Amino acid sequence: MLEEAIESLQCKPGGIYVDGTVGLGGHAHTILQKILPEGLLIGIDRDKESLDKANERLKPFAHSIRLVHDNYKNLPLILNNLDVGPVDGILVDLGVSSYQLLSSERGFSIHSDVNLDMRMDRSQRWTAADIVNNTPESELANLIYRYGEEKLSRRIAAAIVRERSKGPIARCSQLSEIISRTIKGRGRQTIHPATRTFQALRIAVNEELEGLEKFLIEATGFLKPGGRIVTIAFHSLEDRIIKKTLRKLAGQCVCEAPPELCRCPRQAVGRLTHTRPITPKREELAVNPRARSARLRALEKL
Ligand SMILES: C[S@@+](CC[C@H](N)C(=O)[O-])C[C@H]1O[C@@H](n2cnc3c(N)ncnc32)[C@H](O)[C@@H]1O
Repeated sequence: MLEEAIESLQCKPGGIYVDGTVGLGGHAHTILQKILPEGLLIGIDRDKESLDKANERLKPFAHSIRLVHDNYKNLPLILNNLDVGPVDGILVDLGVSSYQLLSSERGFSIHSDVNLDMRMDRSQRWTAADIVNNTPESELANLIYRYGEEKLSRRIAAAIVRERSKGPIARCSQLSEIISRTIKGRGRQTIHPATRTFQALRIAVNEELEGLEKFLIEATGFLKPGGRIVTIAFHSLEDRIIKKTLRKLAGQCVCEAPPELCRCPRQAVGRLTHTRPITPKREELAVNPRARSARLRALEKL
């Protein structure tokens, strides 16, 4: 969704932009082409290895970038430390990158015989294996249900607890085999039986949903009038939070109460640039099927 994201950001020459999920620097590179020679790009990522690669790729623009190893949810602190005032645009392209997913040693892959890790920030202590081996059964079932939207979560949690009583579950392939054995043939399966559980663990390890609403509100506060915040979400849980928060910031009702009972503040600080989310074009899906669930939303500060 590179083209759509850049178009939605409406990058201006000389502007200040934040790429909160700079990854390997793909979007950042295109933003820089639009804002140079005077512009500034602040690139944030919680994955040090990705950030080092972005640094290498963006070396020709070194004087126009500041790369920060941090969580984009710390944006107010990051901008204050850099002594940067209001900005022209903020982009967050959420989730994991293909680089992380395909690096087998990072432990995101269902199929690999590697440590069950899944940390985006490898300086963090808590891994997916810690959750799988230490979380009480009912809590584990709730986590798989909530973050994976997996209807068979109780059955899966029970199987995990049974297996871990024999010894720790340490490898990705070990966990995916346990899940496959437990739920194969149950319900309609169009994806690998372990997909939803792996998604749930990834969201939990990286606390992907925590603080997202707060971030969107704070980030909008850092925009100049006319500046835009652009988000790309890859799963419905994240997209639901974004949709609701951006609507709230646009002064719309987000409650399910009948109009006479609605207590939504309806104070607009921005306007939605599109009424519906932007989804990837057919041509993009042909080369990158992983983009099928991507939803782009944007808000312009009033
Ligand atoms: C989909 S990729 C972004 C790819 C990037 N747009 C590019 O062009 O290369 C998502 C990136 O966001 C990072 N990330 C996810 N959550 C983050 C967070 N809370 N704070 C900072 N970085 C985060 C991941 O480490 C990953 O590198």
